[in-house]
Amino acid sequence: MTALLTVENLRVRYPTRTGVIEAVRGVSFTLGRERLGIVGESGSGKSQTGRAIMGLTPSHGIVTADRLNFSGIDLLSISAKERRSLRGKRIAMVLQDPKYSLDPVMTIGRQITETLRTHEKVGKAEARDRAMAMLEAVQIRDPKRVYDLHPHEVSGGMGQRAMIAMMLIAGPELLIADEPTSALDVTVQLDVLRIMDRLVSERGMGLIFVSHDLRLVSSFCDRVIVMYAGKIVEEIKASELNNAQHPYTRGLLNCMPVIGEDRHPLPVLDRKPEWAA
Ligand SMILES: Nc1ncnc2c1ncn2[C@@H]1O[C@H](COP(=O)(O)OP(=O)(O)OP(=O)(O)O)[C@@H](O)[C@H]1O
Ligand SMILES: [Mg+2]
Repeated sequence: MTALLTVENLRVRYPTRTGVIEAVRGVSFTLGRERLGIVGESGSGKSQTGRAIMGLTPSHGIVTADRLNFSGIDLLSISAKERRSLRGKRIAMVLQDPKYSLDPVMTIGRQITETLRTHEKVGKAEARDRAMAMLEAVQIRDPKRVYDLHPHEVSGGMGQRAMIAMMLIAGPELLIADEPTSALDVTVQLDVLRIMDRLVSERGMGLIFVSHDLRLVSSFCDRVIVMYAGKIVEEIKASELNNAQHPYTRGLLNCMPVIGEDRHPLPVLDRKPEWAA
């Protein structure tokens, strides 16, 4: 299998007045045309890893890696302009909070068609048709109406789905979905996961699915990476999660409530300083 993405020793640092914050501390993994989950607690570096791959690290952050290769392209050596042209077209990221990714003064339809037209030469009418089809694909029941609404006029879940439509319209080869379903209710969550799943199996897209929900990730992904304090502490096939070795992963598994089992109180995860070493 040729890797779609190769990440070797990725580091993201933020210099501050009181010292350097190390958000990502030497992360390595490869991704094929498959679904890879990244789980870990808040602040463990999941989003910062995704943003570094996208080239969306804030300017005061320092990104280094021994290798950061997407489909044969060395992401660390290409120009900012080349990086921008990959973004949205070949690599897309669904950000954690749709509020910050949708433009508040532009209608949803226009945002989707403009995204398409910056990456592909298509006429206005075709762009509109494809945007409508994409809105339908993300299960927006009334695409004609939603097309003309502004982001503040739709619910959080609809906003998130509109953003997913925007990210998928150009047919990316790699999608980084950062908690893409956190603002959705459970049934809609499953719809959105199904859409992404179809893109992986039909179009051969690679997917990095970031979540703090180990249960969701393990039921949806092929492989799972567990992060703790900016590092990968475990990488395991989703089907073999029950054999996880690292005490943090074991702790997470232990803390998951089991239906039909009386577990009062739920166990508390105790952390060991050496995990962050
Ligand atoms: N712009 C920034 N400047 C300095 N530190 C930052 C910046 N952005 C993120 N960090 C730090 O990087 C670390 C990792 O953050 P990140 O957003 O990747 O966590 P996360 O795993 O995505 O958490 P969550 O589950 O809450 O989304 C955190 O300690 C955070 O404080
Ligand atoms: Mg995050």
